Amino acid sequence: MPTAPGIAFSPPATPLSEAVVVIEGLEHAFGEGDLCKQILFDINLTIRAGEIVILTGPSGSGKTTLLTLIGCLRSVQQGSLQVLEQELNGANKATQIQLRRYIGYIFQAHNLLEFLTARQNVQMALELHPQISPKQAKTMAESMLSAVGLGEKFHTYPHALSGGQKQRVAIARALASHPRLILADEPTAALDSKTGREVVDLMQKLAQEQGCAILLVTHDHRILDIADRIVHLEDGYLVQDQVL
Ligand SMILES: Nc1ncnc2c1ncn2[C@@H]1O[C@H](COP(=O)(O)OP(=O)(O)OP(=O)(O)O)[C@@H](O)[C@H]1O
Ligand SMILES: [Mg+2]
Repeated sequence: MPTAPGIAFSPPATPLSEAVVVIEGLEHAFGEGDLCKQILFDINLTIRAGEIVILTGPSGSGKTTLLTLIGCLRSVQQGSLQVLEQELNGANKATQIQLRRYIGYIFQAHNLLEFLTARQNVQMALELHPQISPKQAKTMAESMLSAVGLGEKFHTYPHALSGGQKQRVAIARALASHPRLILADEPTAALDSKTGREVVDLMQKLAQEQGCAILLVTHDHRILDIADRIVHLEDGYLVQDQVL
């Protein structure tokens, strides 16, 4: 377990098999009036603790839209979406912000801040948690960077890291505060196949150790084997829910 000793913050673990995400009849549209275009139709999906679900589908099918809804980055319009037993349809901003603390985000364009070192980038995510002191945040950030193989790069700025190393900092940042759910949008798209494999293996290992759920969007067929289930979006409909 890549945790530093003496860490005060540890949200109670979700028991394995407990639902982290429950979606029923979710619909979503962009635009108003005549320009309104429905993007998601009657989405039903449950993701349990410890499960890795891969979401595939053609460009424009609604994958990122679904991920941002689950990630509390966009308001639910219609249907039911529960994250950690909290209904998001009708939820206020404070609830959304609160839930985001339990979610780790890994996006393709890793969104590292260029003026912060690797350690500061990871530490920043921990500073959202008022119960973690700056000293603890520093120790946790260093421990997480070591866990992803970047023990030598605490003080390196993103411009001096390779693509795979930057993606690992993003993973360390997403996992540092032990989220219950990880949302990853094409985390390997910018990586060669060997580095891409290393990155997903690492996500899988850390997620299993922490017992969190992962929803991962990918076009990369070489990493499908890490999934417990593959779901497929086609024109806004979830057309397949394949248990491996
Ligand atoms: N903020 C927005 N306003 C209006 N339309 C949007 C917005 N975001 C996405 N869309 C539209 O919604 C549809 C689904 O977009 P989304 O980004 O979810 O697709 P995707 O499956 O993630 O595609 P890709 O594989 O290319 O990333 C697209 O037609 C897109 O143009
Ligand atoms: Mg997308």
